[in-house]
Amino acid sequence: MPTAGLLLAGCAGPQSALDPGGDQAHALFSLFGLMLWVSGAIYAVVLAGLGWALWRAWRRRGTDARRDATLVGGVDARLDRTLPVVAGAIVLGLTVLITGSFFADRALFATRAAPALEVRVTGHQWWWRVQYRDRVSDGWIETANELHLPQGVTVRLVLNSADVIHSFWVPNVAGKLDMVPGRTNRLDVTARRPGWYRGQCAEFCGTQHAHMAFAVKVEPPAAFRAWLAAQAAPAAPAEGRGAAAFQATCAACHAIRGAGAAGRAGPDLTHVAARRTLAAGALTMTRGNLQGWIAQPKAIKPGTSMPAIPLTPADADAVATYLATLR
Ligand code: CUA
Repeated sequence: MPTAGLLLAGCAGPQSALDPGGDQAHALFSLFGLMLWVSGAIYAVVLAGLGWALWRAWRRRGTDARRDATLVGGVDARLDRTLPVVAGAIVLGLTVLITGSFFADRALFATRAAPALEVRVTGHQWWWRVQYRDRVSDGWIETANELHLPQGVTVRLVLNSADVIHSFWVPNVAGKLDMVPGRTNRLDVTARRPGWYRGQCAEFCGTQHAHMAFAVKVEPPAAFRAWLAAQAAPAAPAEGRGAAAFQATCAACHAIRGAGAAGRAGPDLTHVAARRTLAAGALTMTRGNLQGWIAQPKAIKPGTSMPAIPLTPADADAVATYLATLR
């Protein structure tokens, strides 16, 4: 395995199925490793056979034997019979292993008690609504385009779509699962390694499918609870030009809890500046990018439902400044 480790070292990173940081991703990686070794062995045998045939032909060059298409008497006939059986057995074996692990996983899912932590993730063109159950109010704590997972804890993700088919995929943590309108899919994930990962929509869903990413933070349970408590808190009260302009032009689509904005069409912005990215991973979260996004959303993400807001430059500046305080 050290050789494979060396070969695959370049495939590690925040969005890689070859660098598992969770139980479900580990199971998939093991299957991948097995298939890689089996296929590699077959490839080596085929190349060795080819090399041997070429070497024989070269040695017999100029003789009549060179034109003899058969192998050593009788061997080819036996190979003709056994090779399909061997190939079929390998394919069947791998199929049983892979489908078996799939059904074992679903059986485990069906019998397991629902994990204490449930997170609703809803796909939109082209962003992610993320909601955590609030045990205190029995409501939901909402954020967008960022998923936090407590390390070592099994979390049940409840996946839906608001429009077309999307697919939820964080390759370092688990396999992908489609988000289908009118249907609820559930995925249990157990992240083990702390750090930032990248999730990506894995089903073509329109022009900005590629810009439908999200950031995933796996952190120790105490840090996770602190983050969730901060998300649950309403935004700090704000006055001034930025807050007023937001209320007048943006609040119809965006919510800021505590500030009277309750729009549901777009992402909840209560703690937007605390997020790592903006516009579903299209931009990093900076005050300048907030302002650029407000001014030219369709230039950054053609097709986005976010309209160019008719704000005066001074108002746009004030709104960006205001949003940048929402941590
Ligand atoms: Cu959503 Cu692709």
